[in-house]
Amino acid sequence: MTHGPEETLDPQDWSATRALGQRMMEDALAYLEGVRERKVWTPIPAGTRAFLAAEAEAPPSGPTPPEAVYETFRREILPQTMGNIHPRFWGWVIGTGSATGALAEFLAATMNPNVGGGQQLPHELELVVLAWMKRLMGFPDEASGLLVSGGSMANLVGLTVARNAKAEVDVVTRGLTGAPRPMTLYASSEVHNSVTKGLALLGLGHDALRTVPVDEAFRLDLAALRERVAADRAAGMHPFCVVGTAGTVNTGAIDDLEAIADYCATENLWFHCDGAFGAVPMLSPALAPLVRGLERADSLAFDLHKWMHVPYEAGVALVRHAEAHHDSFRVPASYLTHATGGMGAADLWLSEYGVQLSRSFRALKVWWLLKEHGVDKYGRLVEQNCAQARALAARIDAEPELERLAPVELNITCFRYRGNGLDDATLDRLNEALLVGLQEDGVAMPSSTVLRGRFALRVCVTNHRSRSEDFDLLVTEVLERGRRLAAAAAGAPGVAARSS
Ligand SMILES: Cc1ncc(COP(=O)(O)O)c(C=O)c1O
Repeated sequence: MTHGPEETLDPQDWSATRALGQRMMEDALAYLEGVRERKVWTPIPAGTRAFLAAEAEAPPSGPTPPEAVYETFRREILPQTMGNIHPRFWGWVIGTGSATGALAEFLAATMNPNVGGGQQLPHELELVVLAWMKRLMGFPDEASGLLVSGGSMANLVGLTVARNAKAEVDVVTRGLTGAPRPMTLYASSEVHNSVTKGLALLGLGHDALRTVPVDEAFRLDLAALRERVAADRAAGMHPFCVVGTAGTVNTGAIDDLEAIADYCATENLWFHCDGAFGAVPMLSPALAPLVRGLERADSLAFDLHKWMHVPYEAGVALVRHAEAHHDSFRVPASYLTHATGGMGAADLWLSEYGVQLSRSFRALKVWWLLKEHGVDKYGRLVEQNCAQARALAARIDAEPELERLAPVELNITCFRYRGNGLDDATLDRLNEALLVGLQEDGVAMPSSTVLRGRFALRVCVTNHRSRSEDFDLLVTEVLERGRRLAAAAAGAPGVAARSS
C-alpha cells in the first residue's frame, strides 16, 4: 500500500505541459519543413553512442522534468534520423510519412483505445477503412480484412489462412502433425523474405518454399511453375499455394497475376498476392492495368506505410474468404465474450482476424490521410514516382559510363557505374564503395542489391518529396564519384570506401 496522496502519471501542472506540447509541435513541424536543407543521413557519431551507452547503464529510478527529457531528445535523438523523410531517400522500400499523418498519430495516441473489438468507434472506423481498401483493391465487400503492422504481418495472415484452408487436416485444432503429405508453396526466386519467414512460423519450414525461376524481366516463369507443381505432386507433396508478387523488392517486377489466378483456379491452389508496394498503383487508373489479376487473389497483403506515406506502422491483409479467415484466428474465451449490450456488443471483433489481441488505433491516420488528400492524389503521386524512376533510367541509358541492370516496371531503377573496361569484380567493389560514400556524405540514400551476380545501386522511389533536380544531383554525384573511384582502382588494388 502507498502512503500519502495517491499518484498519477497526469501532469501536476497542465499549463506547463501545454506549453511544452506547443513547443514540441512547433519544433516538429519546423523540422519537417526544413528537411530538404539537411543531410539525408549521417552515421551515428561517437558522442551519441556514448550517450546511448550511458543510458543503457541503468533504468532511471527517479523523475526527470519533461522539459529536460525533451531537451535530451532534441539534442541526442532527433538529429540521428534514418533519413527516410528526406527527398533523396530511395533505399529499400520505405515511405516518407507526412506532417498531418504524424498529427493524426498523436491524436490516436491521445485517445489511446485498444482496438481489439467491442462497441467502440475506433473499431468501427477500422471497418470503414477496410471497406475502402476492399473497394480500392477490387475485392468484394464480403471479404474480410485487418490493419496490421506491415507487409510481413499481412503476408503471415494471408499465408496462415491459405495453409489452414488447404491443409488435409484441421490444422487449427490438431496442428500439422497429422498432415498426410508435406505442404509446398510456390513463388518466384524474387519473392520477399517475409514469405520465407512466414513459412517457418507456420511450421512448414523454409523447405516448403519452392522457388520458381524468373524470366528476363524478373517475373515468375509460369511454365517452370507448372512443371514444379507437377513434379512435386508426383513426388507425394501437397502443393497448396502460389504467391504472386505485385512489385518485387529488388526491381519492382510484377508477376503475371491474371495467369497465376487462372492457374490457381484450375489447380485448386490458393493465390496469395504480395503487393507490399505494388498494390498501390491500383489507385491510379493509368497504372492499375499493370497489376490486373491482383483483385482475384484469395488473399492480398499490402502496405500503407510505404507508398501511401502513412506513418509507420500500417499494412493491410485482405482475405476473400471471410469465414476461413475467422476460423484461423478465432479462439473463444470467457473473458472475451461477445455481449448483447454494453461494450461487448459487436458482432465482429478484429482481434479474431489476426495475431494481436491488443491493437492500436491505426485506422485514424489512414482515414485522415485518405480523406485529406483523396484517392486521386495518391494515384497521381504513384504516377509521379514511376515517371521519376523512368526519367532516371533514361538519363542512365544516355550516359555511356552508367549501365542499367534491370527494366523499370514501376518505381525502381537499378544501375551501376561501369566506367571503361573494368571487370565485374572491380565494378562490384567500386559501386559498393560509391554507395557507401553517397550514404555517409549524406548526399542521397539509394540501397543496393545483386542482380544476376552484379552489384547494383538500387533507387526505389516511394517518396512524395523527391523532385527531378534530386535525381539530377544523383546522376552527377555517381558520375563524379565513379570516375574518382575508377581512377583510384586503376592506380592501386582495392577501392577506397570514401570517395570524398
Ligand atoms: C514485396 C515486399 N513484400 C513484403 C515486404 C515486407 O513489408 P514490411 O517491411 O512492411 O513488413 C516488403 C518490404 O519491403 C516488400 O517489398
